[in-house]
Amino acid sequence: MSSFYALIIGAGSTIAQAAIAQFEQNPDCLGVFAVSRSLPHEDSNSAKVEKKVRWFICDNSESSIKDVVQQINQHSPNITKVLICNGVLHGTQQNNETMMPEKKLEDVNAEQLEAVFHANTVVPMLWLSKLVPLVKGKEATQVALFSARVGSISDNKSGGWYSYRASKAALNMLIQNSAIEYARRAKNVKLIAFHPGTTDTPLSKPFQRSVPKDKLFTPEFVASQLLAIMDSVEMNAIEGHAIEGHAIEGNRNAAFLDWNNQAINW
Ligand SMILES: NC(=O)c1ccc[n+]([C@@H]2O[C@H](COP(=O)([O-])OP(=O)(O)OC[C@H]3O[C@@H](n4cnc5c(N)ncnc54)[C@H](OP(=O)(O)O)[C@@H]3O)[C@@H](O)[C@H]2O)c1
Repeated sequence: MSSFYALIIGAGSTIAQAAIAQFEQNPDCLGVFAVSRSLPHEDSNSAKVEKKVRWFICDNSESSIKDVVQQINQHSPNITKVLICNGVLHGTQQNNETMMPEKKLEDVNAEQLEAVFHANTVVPMLWLSKLVPLVKGKEATQVALFSARVGSISDNKSGGWYSYRASKAALNMLIQNSAIEYARRAKNVKLIAFHPGTTDTPLSKPFQRSVPKDKLFTPEFVASQLLAIMDSVEMNAIEGHAIEGHAIEGNRNAAFLDWNNQAINW
């Protein structure tokens, strides 16, 4: 593989941290641009250099995203791996701590819908809309956006989790839609809606009790699966699913894949 740079957005994510560590170990990776709402260690600088990793603080507003993209573009490196990891499922100390996925219609409320859509749909889409200058090179480039199997409309059998499911379904549509335009403007980019599987991170913590041990993945395992998928994914391949004899073809430039490289119905 030729040498490359990686860009990780939502770099504070536990899975993102594992991916950064793996990029650091990879001699072909010349550098990692890591973007987060806060630095991983206490530090008052807005950008710092740590081994191969250069950190940027970004509040994910449009102006802040533009600013970071411009700063990275000045280095004009060959970014061919992008991970967009942002997502929330329940409240944390930083947001509404009592927020939990909705179990029934009566739990649905505007505040939660808006907060979850903002982190899971709006933020990744803002990034996708501003990335073109960084990824429009000649090299095969993969942009992985962290989605979730529960965002599959055709796979929804158990209901609940209204805001999370809908925010990931909306993200998937935005990925499909963007892939059509990317095909014209950044031809060598494949967009991957990625389902990591249940992974041991703060996001899944409250829901881990019912998960069998062998189905709860470590962030390191999931990161290595994702990076391998990004290396091997077929560019411009049609992700087809045969249902009752009818092939349902997806977009050539977008794929919805799980941690085991299996296609998920959109
Ligand atoms: N863990 C699982 O079992 C699982 C399963 C399916 C899908 N996923 C998806 O995988 C992705 C990574 O999650 P994780 O498990 O690594 O969780 P995590 O450690 O809790 O990471 C959370 C991520 O979300 C970002 N974030 C949190 N609140 C945000 C807000 N209000 N606005 C913008 N960004 C915000 C953080 O970005 P900063 O760096 O800026 O803080 C960080 O990237 C998420 O999209 C999640 O939905 C996870």
